[in-house]
Amino acid sequence: MGAVGPKLTWWPETALREYMPLNNARPSSSAFSSHPRVQRLPQARPPPCSATGSSFPKSLFTPGEGGGEKLKGEKKAEEYLGIETMAVEMANQSGDAANSIFSGVKLPVTLSWQDVVYKVKVKRGEKVILKGVSGCVQPGELLAMLGPSGSGKTTLLTLLGGRVAPTSRLTGSITYNGRPFSSPLKRTLGFVTQDDVLYAHLTVMETLYYTALLRLPSTLSRKEKAAQAEAVLDQLGLTVCRNNMIGSVLVRGISGGERKRVSIGQEMLINPSLLLLDEPTSGLDSTIAARIVSLLWKLTQTGGRTVAMTIHQPSSRLFYMFHKVLLLSDGNPVYFGKGSDALDYFNRIDYTPEIAMNPSDFLLDLANGVSANEETLEEKAATKQVLVEAYRVHLHPLVSEELTTLSKQFKEQGSELSTKKMKQEWSTSWWEQFEILLRRSLKERRHEAFSPRHLIQIFVVAIIVGILWFKSSDKVTDQVGLLYFVNSFWGMYPAFEGIYTFPMERTILTKERSSGMYRLSSYFMALTAGDLPMELILPTCFVLIIYWMCGLKSEAGNFFILLSSILVTVLVAQGVGLAIGAVLMDLKKASTLCSIFMLIFMLAGGFFVQNMPSFISWVKYISFNFYSFRLQLLSQYSPHETYDCGQETRCLVDDIPSVKVVGLRDAWLAVIVMFALLVFYRLVAYVALMRIGPGKK
Ligand SMILES: Nc1ncnc2c1ncn2[C@@H]1O[C@H](COP(=O)(O)OP(=O)(O)OP(=O)(O)O)[C@@H](O)[C@H]1O
Ligand SMILES: [Mg+2]
Repeated sequence: MGAVGPKLTWWPETALREYMPLNNARPSSSAFSSHPRVQRLPQARPPPCSATGSSFPKSLFTPGEGGGEKLKGEKKAEEYLGIETMAVEMANQSGDAANSIFSGVKLPVTLSWQDVVYKVKVKRGEKVILKGVSGCVQPGELLAMLGPSGSGKTTLLTLLGGRVAPTSRLTGSITYNGRPFSSPLKRTLGFVTQDDVLYAHLTVMETLYYTALLRLPSTLSRKEKAAQAEAVLDQLGLTVCRNNMIGSVLVRGISGGERKRVSIGQEMLINPSLLLLDEPTSGLDSTIAARIVSLLWKLTQTGGRTVAMTIHQPSSRLFYMFHKVLLLSDGNPVYFGKGSDALDYFNRIDYTPEIAMNPSDFLLDLANGVSANEETLEEKAATKQVLVEAYRVHLHPLVSEELTTLSKQFKEQGSELSTKKMKQEWSTSWWEQFEILLRRSLKERRHEAFSPRHLIQIFVVAIIVGILWFKSSDKVTDQVGLLYFVNSFWGMYPAFEGIYTFPMERTILTKERSSGMYRLSSYFMALTAGDLPMELILPTCFVLIIYWMCGLKSEAGNFFILLSSILVTVLVAQGVGLAIGAVLMDLKKASTLCSIFMLIFMLAGGFFVQNMPSFISWVKYISFNFYSFRLQLLSQYSPHETYDCGQETRCLVDDIPSVKVVGLRDAWLAVIVMFALLVFYRLVAYVALMRIGPGKK
């Protein structure tokens, strides 16, 4: 291999000291095991899991600390990269305001994973995404997962975050302080997803503030929680856009980089023991990216936090901040160990960059199978295979050995570090959660709720109805038709609005429930209560407009009974929409099913068909339109009421065919059924939502 730059020829003495003969390397069965590069490392011993600690950054960022003089190689790297000054400066930029975020964590967490194999179902069988990945990251360490796109970084991070339910397609073990994932861990685990999941209409400050209110313990006052949100805001350089809306594809808001920082801030707020981040620096300029990584580095150094992140193309400055690096290639691990030793390992197996280059670029090239001479697809595949085999022979046995030692340690001191010690309770009470979620939901949906689209729709329909049935008090059959139209309109409109509620919230609900932010019941009540103003005010305005225009009975009693019956209809119809939306969680499917349901309910309501075949006539009893129509008729007509049906004769209203099917009787039965349906449909929606959450589909 050709000449290399100063940092690339550097061979850390620490690494040399740790390297020992590979006596326990398993013989390889693969054709690649005899490859000269796989056999190249007779004396190399890569940095073991527990030995990595924070020796590299300690000596790098805090001169004199870490007991003793810096090694020659480390000094050289510092001089070359100049990162010591940079990291310290950046970390100091945070200021005192954010000190609370950097206070120590209550329970340091060691995350270990061993031989993780993960498969997913695809059309033609199964696809193996992770093919036996092992490693660990301890308190005080920053782990970076590198690899080409599609190599399985996000999948591994998601598994490590306990966000995939255990299935037969996941084998191997993932432990936290030697124990499997448990619910209380959620509240001390921060997880930043690759895609930002945020409410579009809240401002940056509102987003952080509501998260602080929900996630921070009730031992802190609201003022203290707000101060914590302010500190994070300051820390992440978001002060300039604090009052800007987050935005979405449809609404212009803050930039992608700012949005990413808000997502990170939401997780930093809780002062997590274990922080997992999926590409926290993607889309950021190099200064902000460096600031974020140095902040994460500082989080590991103060208070014993454990941080793991996936990252694309970190600069060399950032690369040397990582205590550990895991390099993946097509789901296979090809390197796990100290970041500072990665190049040495590859040098040892005869992969050396020909020019001085960013180490992460070099590692990514290798993970893609690109080394100096290999260009064709076959050659790239062969390079990857050699790297996989080299890892299997040289690194895997050592990592496994270390993981076994760690697991033994945890078994011995298990009770001390048990996650069971962590409190199971929620951070806030049910009412607090309800109140905060209601306020947040009203803020988020204030634009939607009384949008001009809604208002115009309702007012135009009301005016048209008023004109068509203008002063029709003496035309009873027309008025029965009017009541049926009102009943159908308010049975249909809220249902179609309701189907949007949960499918639109799915990602946010999954994210927030995964971090144990609130109870499902408080979220459900808050969201449905948040819809009430729109659900109740608009129909009230509608009734106010049409009531006197159409000449309905002028007594207050009749008005209020009609209004209340319409409001109950609206709530039941909304429940149908919520239930269909929550069960299907797909807007297209939900609107199709909703139209079918509504059509059946409407037709069975008694107005259109009076003589249904007996085998299908039962449908009317499950149709809420049937009962709501009865209540609306009863609001205007008493059971024995008559009207002038021509030739100076009077007929019973109850004898009009469309009224007869429904009947002017049993008002209480209709009221009871309507309230029962109101609860029933919401219950269906609630049960359907229970499947949304950590590791659920
Ligand atoms: N549910 C799934 N069904 C089918 N394939 C899947 C599924 N989940 C992940 N994959 C595939 O697994 C591979 C790894 O995906 P993953 O998202 O973990 O990659 P990544 O390393 O995070 O990529 P990137 O850097 O682009 O984010 C990809 O090829 C992806 O298409
Ligand atoms: Mg990814």
